[in-house]
Amino acid sequence: MTKVIKTGVSFPKELLEKFDKVVEELNLGSRSTGIQEAMRTFLSMNIWRLRGEEEVAGTILVHYCHEVHDVEKNLTEIQHDFLDIIPSTLHIHLTKEDCLLIIAVKGSALRVKELAKAIRSAGKLKQVLPILVPIY
Ligand code: NI
Repeated sequence: MTKVIKTGVSFPKELLEKFDKVVEELNLGSRSTGIQEAMRTFLSMNIWRLRGEEEVAGTILVHYCHEVHDVEKNLTEIQHDFLDIIPSTLHIHLTKEDCLLIIAVKGSALRVKELAKAIRSAGKLKQVLPILVPIY
C-alpha cells in the first residue's frame, strides 16, 4: 500500500470554498481526495516540462484579442519561427475582438518550452495553456 503523508497547506478562503463545491459536485468524498486528484491533474499537465530532448505532443491554446497592437502579427511570426514543431494551427474567431489559436505541436520538450516562452512574450494575451503528453 502507498505510504500516506499528512501535511498542512494554506488556502485563500474563496479558493477553498470553490474547490469544496467542485469536490462535492464530483462526489469525491473528501477534500483530501479532491486535492490528490487536483495534484494528479497538475502533474499530468506539467510533467512534460521535466523532459529535455524527449518528444512531446499536444496543443498550446492561446486566447487573445486581435485588436491589441501587434499581437496577431507577433503570434504569426512566432509560428513561422517554429515550423519544425508546428504541423497545424486552428484559428477560431470567438467574438468581434477575441480569437482562440489552437496550435498543434510535436517535438522535443525543450523546443516546445521555447515556443511557449515566445508566445508569452508576443504581447498582452488572455491565456496561454499548453496541454502536452510525453511520447514514450
Ligand atoms: Ni480571429
